[in-house]
Amino acid sequence: MADQTKELLAAARRARGKAYAPHSKFRVGAAVLGADGRIYAGCNVENSSFGLTICAERNAIFAMVTAGVREIREILVIGDTEDYLPPCGACRQVMAEFAAPDVVVHMCNRAGKRWDATVGELVPYIFYLKKR
Ligand code: THU
Repeated sequence: MADQTKELLAAARRARGKAYAPHSKFRVGAAVLGADGRIYAGCNVENSSFGLTICAERNAIFAMVTAGVREIREILVIGDTEDYLPPCGACRQVMAEFAAPDVVVHMCNRAGKRWDATVGELVPYIFYLKKR
């Protein structure tokens, strides 16, 4: 595993430790490598009004954008699951806004084993309001 990917994994694991998931007990961590070379992490944050819940991936991406960076180079998401954790449809759409189709998404299980796909594979025929 490349050093940068190891750092993404460590950051996503740390973020997963902060997950606020009292309702589902489903803890998720995510980390993105920004075009500035820095790593931005996020965890899922649930709410008593379930629809207000935000996934780990979107929190990581929004942290990157808040820091002034708008281009993702690599993405990693980790659940506390046996199986690899594929991002939900909403997060895929948000990834596509800030990541080129060839950007790799590492989907990890609790042991850190991964299954890789590109953003273009996860979101074929993506909707863009404006041409990128
Ligand atoms: N969740 C994520 O954070 N990322 C995903 O890719 C899938 C789902 C969260 C949302 C909610 O807090 C919990 O997992 C159960 O859906």
